[in-house]
Amino acid sequence: MARRVLLQLDCDPHPSSFDAIVALDAGVDVVLPYGGVTPDNVVPLVHGAMFTRGGSELASTAIFIGGSDVALAEAVQQRVCATFFGPVRVGVMLDPSGANTTAAAAVVAAARHLPLADVAGARECPAVVLGATGPVGQRVARLLVRRGAPVTLVSRSAPRAGEAAEVIRRAVPGAMVDAVDLAALSGDAGRARALLDQARLVVAAGAAGVTLLTATQRRSMQGGVFIDLNAVPPVGIEGIAPTDKARSEGTALFYGALGVGGTKMKIHRAAIARLFGGDAPVLDAEEMLDIGGPA
Ligand SMILES: NC(=O)c1ccc[n+]([C@@H]2O[C@H](COP(=O)([O-])OP(=O)(O)OC[C@H]3O[C@@H](n4cnc5c(N)ncnc54)[C@H](OP(=O)(O)O)[C@@H]3O)[C@@H](O)[C@H]2O)c1
Repeated sequence: MARRVLLQLDCDPHPSSFDAIVALDAGVDVVLPYGGVTPDNVVPLVHGAMFTRGGSELASTAIFIGGSDVALAEAVQQRVCATFFGPVRVGVMLDPSGANTTAAAAVVAAARHLPLADVAGARECPAVVLGATGPVGQRVARLLVRRGAPVTLVSRSAPRAGEAAEVIRRAVPGAMVDAVDLAALSGDAGRARALLDQARLVVAAGAAGVTLLTATQRRSMQGGVFIDLNAVPPVGIEGIAPTDKARSEGTALFYGALGVGGTKMKIHRAAIARLFGGDAPVLDAEEMLDIGGPA
């Protein structure tokens, strides 16, 4: 059998060592890392992957796209997929900033406790995503909305949250998605109060080291599942420890960043392995959620 070769296409100058190590741990034999990849310079690299191996051996070549600029990585992915033709294609995984694997892991954690598996159940699970304009928050929101959950995006800027909501509406027709600014959650205004009262899921996907929900705000809520993806102190939701994994406090259940991190790593490794299954899949957040199942 041909050796498993993964082209690691990274939009940053230095290809991520993290992504390379996970690939090797997932069973890849050889990682070929490339940095500074853009839609304009990627085609020769893709041709190199497409034309070196014929027949079933082509399934032993795959492409991983990463980097910290999510929009650029998405543009690279589109160019990569547009370069393929007919059966001359290889598996492609997109995970810039770990956003897809992290978002999928957060939804898998939530689905252990909430009926997110079908639309009827998901509709009864209003969710609030804090830091929703970032790469991880946008994907958490998109995955939840696709399941059928009503989702409110929260950002420091209402227009930014509104733009992120619009992106999701374009991607998911009929999406139940709303946007508010973070300051609104601190007041007693009726809408913000109702939002927190009704939420059954809160995911904090804000920048590292930023608290977005205080313990007082959290305790004023009726309970539910709280997932904080920020491991850097101070944490995103006050009172959640990074290692929390389904820790309960009254009617609330807590997951911290490290509590979700194990699932994220499993999804990442399983997604890499899936690239070599022979059907040249394109793995974005939705496919990674399927891989993480049983959400
Ligand atoms: N557990 C894991 O394996 C894993 C993997 C990847 C990432 N993460 C964590 O997941 C979280 C989200 O990652 P990301 O890359 O999406 O984050 P990000 O882009 O750095 O930040 C997300 C959002 O946070 C808001 N924000 C930034 N600075 C802020 C501040 N000072 N005060 C309040 N809000 C602020 C911004 O939204 P607005 O400007 O619109 O308010 C930003 O869009 C991070 O904490 C990251 O460390 C965890």
